[in-house]
Amino acid sequence: MARKKIALVGAGNIGGTLAHLIGLKELGDVVLFDVFAGVAAGKALDIMQSGPVDGFDSKMVGAADYAAIEGADVVIVTAGFPRLPGMTRDDLLTKNAEVITKVAEGIKTYAPNAFVICITNPLDVMVWVLQQKSGLPPEKVVGMAGVLDSARFRLFLAEEFGVSVEDVTAFVLGGHGDTMVPLTRYSTVAGIPVPDLIKMGWSTQEKIDAIVTRTANGGGEIVKLLEKGSAFYAPAASAIAMAESYLKDKKRVLPCAVLLNGQYGMNDFYVGVPVVIGDKGVEKIVEVQFTEAEKAAFDKSCDAVKKLIEDFKKLGV
Ligand code: LMR
Repeated sequence: MARKKIALVGAGNIGGTLAHLIGLKELGDVVLFDVFAGVAAGKALDIMQSGPVDGFDSKMVGAADYAAIEGADVVIVTAGFPRLPGMTRDDLLTKNAEVITKVAEGIKTYAPNAFVICITNPLDVMVWVLQQKSGLPPEKVVGMAGVLDSARFRLFLAEEFGVSVEDVTAFVLGGHGDTMVPLTRYSTVAGIPVPDLIKMGWSTQEKIDAIVTRTANGGGEIVKLLEKGSAFYAPAASAIAMAESYLKDKKRVLPCAVLLNGQYGMNDFYVGVPVVIGDKGVEKIVEVQFTEAEKAAFDKSCDAVKKLIEDFKKLGV
């Protein structure tokens, strides 16, 4: 079987971590693209040199020319600026809109058949721009957010219940911003929904509410601690789970930002919902049933994304 080609656009902390994980999981060969050619080439060579120790043969090259991503099977986009303490993700709109527009042109020209995963913030708008400007089919352009937000939710719930993260499932839907919607009703320990666990006396509503708030602020908590940038290990791991499901046709059910066209009563914008990812990309959008309160929270989150798309349109990029 031919080795897969994975292009990483952006050779910062997330790009380097992605390349390392791709090597460790033997998912394919890597092109690490960055406008800073030396950084891309240096990181690619450094990670490839860990291969003999870790036992992987992935070829890794750096590049500053989009031609190098030609024919990529998967493209993961991390290019752009991270936020700093005191900023919201939305504050990155103006700076990152231009970056993503250029990336979209590069993908359109050189990797039109790729499965594209966007990580750049503000996520839901940037992935929408990437799809619009590249013209790739919507089922092949997705945003990484829900997997990351749900991973944070799972970790905090596992700590609260004193159980393995492996036995905790959780869903966070909506936009990847302050209005995201962690759904406790759809979160479980070994299949037992969190509200039932509260009834069983295993936790309290107050403690779960605090975990929901901590999850929604999860990115900001890391930004504050790091002082000079944002999270990269968990975002990279989350994007790799999505890429792996595509490359291996695993058909995992993962919360991702996808283009809604009628689903959830929404149209023509990206927001996080559960989807099935297989070798055709997004193969199914799962429409979960909401309570009135959940629906109101989801609508509020969608409204925040819609407003940001309007702000993007005013930029005239
Ligand atoms: C995250 O959630 O970690 C990322 O969106 C980065 C950020 O700015 O919070």
